Amino acid sequence: MSNKRFYVTTPIYYPSDKLHIGHALTTTMADTLSRYKKMLGYDTFFLTGSDEHGQKIEKTAAQAGMKPIEYTDKIVAGFQELWKKLDIEYDDFIRTTEKRHYETVSKIFTKIYEKGDIYKSEYEGFYCTPCESFFTERQLEEGHCPDCGRKVDVVREESYFFKMSKYADDLIAYIESHPHFIRPETRKNEMLSFLKSGLEDLCVSRTTFDWGIPVPIDDKHVIYVWFDALTNYLTALDYLNEGELYQKFWQENDEIVHLVGKDIVRFHTIIWPIILMAADIKIPDMVFAHGWLLLDGGKMSKSKGNVVDPTALIDKYGSDAIRYFLLREMPFGEDGYYSEEALVLRTNTDLANDYGNLLSRTTSMIDKFCGGIIPEKTSEDDVDKEFADLAGDIKEAYVANMDNLQFGKALQEVWKIIARGNKYIEESAPWALAKDESKAEKLNAVMYNLAETIRVATIYLSPFMPATPAKVFDQLGIDELGLKSWDSIDFGAAIQGIKVRRKDPIFPRIDAKEALKVEETQEPKKESKKDSKKDSKKESKKEAAEEGANLISFDEFFKTELKVAEIVAAEKVEKTDKLLKLSLQVGEEKRIIVAGIALHYAPDELIGKKIIIVANLKPAKLRGIESQGMLLAASTSDKKQMTLLTVDSDIPSGSKVG
Ligand code: MSP
Repeated sequence: MSNKRFYVTTPIYYPSDKLHIGHALTTTMADTLSRYKKMLGYDTFFLTGSDEHGQKIEKTAAQAGMKPIEYTDKIVAGFQELWKKLDIEYDDFIRTTEKRHYETVSKIFTKIYEKGDIYKSEYEGFYCTPCESFFTERQLEEGHCPDCGRKVDVVREESYFFKMSKYADDLIAYIESHPHFIRPETRKNEMLSFLKSGLEDLCVSRTTFDWGIPVPIDDKHVIYVWFDALTNYLTALDYLNEGELYQKFWQENDEIVHLVGKDIVRFHTIIWPIILMAADIKIPDMVFAHGWLLLDGGKMSKSKGNVVDPTALIDKYGSDAIRYFLLREMPFGEDGYYSEEALVLRTNTDLANDYGNLLSRTTSMIDKFCGGIIPEKTSEDDVDKEFADLAGDIKEAYVANMDNLQFGKALQEVWKIIARGNKYIEESAPWALAKDESKAEKLNAVMYNLAETIRVATIYLSPFMPATPAKVFDQLGIDELGLKSWDSIDFGAAIQGIKVRRKDPIFPRIDAKEALKVEETQEPKKESKKDSKKDSKKESKKEAAEEGANLISFDEFFKTELKVAEIVAAEKVEKTDKLLKLSLQVGEEKRIIVAGIALHYAPDELIGKKIIIVANLKPAKLRGIESQGMLLAASTSDKKQMTLLTVDSDIPSGSKVG
């Protein structure tokens, strides 16, 4: 009997710019899923790639003084380098500029046209260039793009239309009878209500730019980008020749999974299945929409200048730490948050302390108490048994969570035994057992159980962190392939007699202060360079000296408007440890400030305090809340102690400070 098949895809990314950490999230998910299925014995195919056509790329390339293909060649090479660094093991990388893709898109377009489901008419509507999307007036939100909120352009031109409306009822029926097609459930409900509100025909060609695949029957037109882009999932499987890959991974496969971000679910669960229905091709099994990876200040964007470069992070912390962080932190189907601080914290607690320490403590004790050889377990008491049972028990929960794309939860299962392993060491105190010859059997059981736990946990972790298992198995002395594979996942393998090879910690503890300091000191350097250029030599020397001493003038100081504010209400900001939302009275005015003081103050104890705020700071959004100013507080350099600057007389709120 042939193996079970699994086909997983990421969205194909726009090569208008370099990729950021948010893009790395989807690709890491797909890679982990593909490695997991492969580990279970599936025949897998994992596809990623680049979506190179459209007006935006055409414009960006022109601004860079390049032909579109020269521009995308360069950016796409960067994508591929990033995936290599992140240990992404894809089976194919599709570029929409490839000949095979032109031919596949033409084949599908022609098939649908000949069926009568594509027709020529005049388009009048609204176009969002950054999203490459057309909208009807009804779809706009307060006159702006419903996806990105930006301004849209009004366009009118001759276009080809795809009779999407014809298939709306069939699609509703399909979604309702296939509860796993759109996941999570909330997205499914959104899409169903969108569909039920009425579907219009889709404009599938443009004449106002050239950078695209020509319409096969009319080369004045190029094919609208989403029709072009979505088809990539079939191009890579050789739908063109309906070849072996297509038969194997599409036709005869019932696990076809598209991973997408929540912003592009509509394209994948409405346009894509309707294209497939019209072309008489089967619909995939699941479109899973994940949330976005956000920063404290909201979304990453080039214009805000807050884009996080994954390459720099991989260089600094290693690929496995980044992959682990992304999949551990992201809540299922919802938005998650990235900060370098959180990344360092996660790496230190989970990887260095829990996992890394368990390995080094175990190998060190086996060295010391058992001559470096994993002993045989000849008996076990209740504690040993309870521990071994737990280590053996997680398989079902792990598999269920992985199959459900609940990566964070699967990792939590693995961590249950890692954490329990560390506790087991404390409970059984092997150092005391080693002093008492009559306890030799117990000591052996403890050492065996610990080594076996690490082995099993490492197999579970291997789809998440592909570089780590080799290091761990090396230290455990496990060379035999069979002992590293899913076939031996059940607790209790014959690892006795193996000689451990203790080495350096697999995840050395990161000095958080050092690691995060580099980031803080980079900014001022850039500014001082820029400032000194425009001044005369003498002036700039003086300024440089003053800058070095951090001196500012009176005028500069009084640009900052400090005021007394009274805290009238305080509450924790959801899903954060550090932030409090404070409602303030500043004279007649009411303000909201979001402040990172939750580790130092309980909301209740703040009510009635009169504090000092910077009143003329530009508002900034933190976790979706507009913070209108900043409060003053003093803290020790390690940030362990912090105190708010308060006024102790009953001076009214709104009074000026300075
Ligand atoms: N080219 C289209 C996809 C076509 S698929 C047939 C596209 N490209 S994109 O480069 O703009 O985005 C690709 C994916 O990256 C989307 O799924 C999007 O949700 C995801 N992300 C972009 N920023 C993100 C975060 N900050 N966090 C998580 N994913 C995010 O759309």
